[in-house]
Amino acid sequence: MTSLPPYPASLYAALHTGTEGDLAFYARECAGVSSVLELGCGDGRVLQVLDVPHRAGLDLHGGLLEAAGARLGPGVQLHTADMRTFELGRRFERILLPFSGVYCMLDDEDIAACFGRVRAHLEPGGVFILDAYRADGFHADCEPEDVGDDDWSELTVIEVDGQPYTVFERSRWRPDTQRIDVTYRHVPLTQRTASVDGRIEQRYLLRHQLEGHLADAGLRDVEVFGGFDRRPVSRASEHWVACARG
Ligand SMILES: C[S@@+](CC[C@H](N)C(=O)[O-])C[C@H]1O[C@@H](n2cnc3c(N)ncnc32)[C@H](O)[C@@H]1O
Repeated sequence: MTSLPPYPASLYAALHTGTEGDLAFYARECAGVSSVLELGCGDGRVLQVLDVPHRAGLDLHGGLLEAAGARLGPGVQLHTADMRTFELGRRFERILLPFSGVYCMLDDEDIAACFGRVRAHLEPGGVFILDAYRADGFHADCEPEDVGDDDWSELTVIEVDGQPYTVFERSRWRPDTQRIDVTYRHVPLTQRTASVDGRIEQRYLLRHQLEGHLADAGLRDVEVFGGFDRRPVSRASEHWVACARG
């Protein structure tokens, strides 16, 4: 993958607003450090709450980076760069990959490349932190026909620039490649304009695969928690949070 499927930035940002508790968690994890890099920083939602002198973010989506620039101002360094190949010429005390961003890497080579870049950009003793939807249960329980290639389900209503949209979702699940590709259809409620589709391609990684990739990249002290309060992972955990040292 060298580019992302098209997804208008304003619709994306209005729908994908993070996981409860994530902003406070990342703010805590970055308290007192002098530098932080966010991979897949989107519209700057996370970088905005970090009280860190040197903040940097990278993303491949031009529209989201533009929104991040408007939100964060010139003090934050934003890069149009790929999380699998970036070279920023400096190291960071924290590198973050929030909100299931790790699932944007669609095969093992992508993940190995990304985590290798993370290791190369972490200060010695610096910490790499990511969080994601815990997909192990989904893997175990869900067959492709349970998801239904052609079934649209109504998700929510969002408002963008005064225009309300009903959002429908359709997913395609391929257990052999661990791929779940989701199309969101945004249907304007009050104007007779066309609906807008946005697509997200993901690979649902299992916990042991994540731990293996972190270790293979030479990252140390790998820990996986079942939530932002660092509780142990259990079958009830909806998310996991992973930390590893450079
Ligand atoms: C789930 S979103 C998370 C956005 C933001 N971190 C947040 O928490 O709100 C994943 C982000 O990663 C970006 N992305 C996907 N693949 C990428 C890649 N290979 N390199 C850089 N950014 C990528 C997407 O454009 C998107 O902004």
